[in-house]
Amino acid sequence: MNFHIQYQGRTVPLNQGETVLEALERTGIDVPSSCRAGACQTCMMRATEGSVPHAAQAGLKETLKKSGHFLSCICRPAQNLVCEPAHTADFRGPVTIQEIRPLGPDVVLVQLSRPPNFDFNPGQFVTLRRADAVSRSYSIASQRAALDTLDIHVRRVPQGQLSGWFHQEARPGDELWLEGPKGDCFYYPGNPEEPLLLIGTGTGMAPLFAVALDACQQGHTGPISIYHGALSADRFYLVEELQELTRAFPQISYVRCVLKGPAESGIQVGELKDIVLSGLTDPKQKRVYLCGDPGLVRILKKQIFLAGVSMNRLHADPFVGTGA
Ligand SMILES: Cc1cc2nc3c(=O)[nH]c(=O)nc-3n(C[C@H](O)[C@H](O)[C@H](O)COP(=O)(O)OP(=O)(O)OC[C@H]3O[C@@H](n4cnc5c(N)ncnc54)[C@H](O)[C@@H]3O)c2cc1C
Ligand code: FES
Repeated sequence: MNFHIQYQGRTVPLNQGETVLEALERTGIDVPSSCRAGACQTCMMRATEGSVPHAAQAGLKETLKKSGHFLSCICRPAQNLVCEPAHTADFRGPVTIQEIRPLGPDVVLVQLSRPPNFDFNPGQFVTLRRADAVSRSYSIASQRAALDTLDIHVRRVPQGQLSGWFHQEARPGDELWLEGPKGDCFYYPGNPEEPLLLIGTGTGMAPLFAVALDACQQGHTGPISIYHGALSADRFYLVEELQELTRAFPQISYVRCVLKGPAESGIQVGELKDIVLSGLTDPKQKRVYLCGDPGLVRILKKQIFLAGVSMNRLHADPFVGTGA
């Protein structure tokens, strides 16, 4: 049986196996999207009639689920739906690039103007849209105290539309449209002694650094273990900053893991997931954060859950790109 969706007054038939996003795009309706894989929430909608499959609400807060919100890029309805744009982001508006400077071999810091009253928790992410509607998500690397600016760290992806633009063409004064903040990858105060485990690859370190610093600034006293994975030692960035953090806050430990190369001081050689899992003690006490490479984040999330960490203490942002 074929179903249809109604969206902003138009009725669109759904082809076999099609997502809501695909059906709307096929008929020429413009819907903002980015990862197209259920990770960035850019395509979120709300069903006002009909119910959506559970899978289309994966990762959403309970309040959003109950109010019928869903991710249109992973929603294959099993009944007719009436839906509308979600408009859930606390802030939607323009921001301006203030500064761009290199942070590592393939990573730049992009400093954006912070809109007045833009409130966030360090480690959450925002979605940025360029004038030509190319839209991607980036984690917030800065702290709340930076009143005028918002920092993001952008790794250059080969042939990447937005990351390539940030690295080569974007200039101070260029304007972007920002929506956010989104996501639950941030420090949860109230339990200062709980052990925190932070695991990331690439620019996954941007939100994790922000979470660790925020935790310490809020008086966290329990151990904070940071694992930073890369293919080889020359691919790391933020190393000095992280080492400095461990000196400032002795409860933080920082381990770099490489897939290949010599084991040096502070560097372990092997699969990041094996190194993390072999050191995972007291899983029931831990709160875990995972950011970066989508494949690794998904595998680790599953294995850490199977090892005993409860799902509501597992916060994961897979940096899913388009076409993943
Ligand atoms: C919640 C969330 C948070 C994110 N936070 C950050 C962040 O803080 N810093 C950051 O640098 N990125 C982050 N990303 C990834 C970012 O949104 C973009 O996907 C990335 O910058 C690539 O966009 P692009 O336009 O340059 O590449 P595209 O033009 O979209 O893609 C170009 C080609 O590269 C492939 N590709 C896309 N992304 C990747 C990738 N990550 N690795 C390998 N191949 C890829 C595509 O399939 C395509 O073939 C985040 C993503 C999500 C969902
Ligand atoms: S969650 Fe649908 S486009 Fe990212």
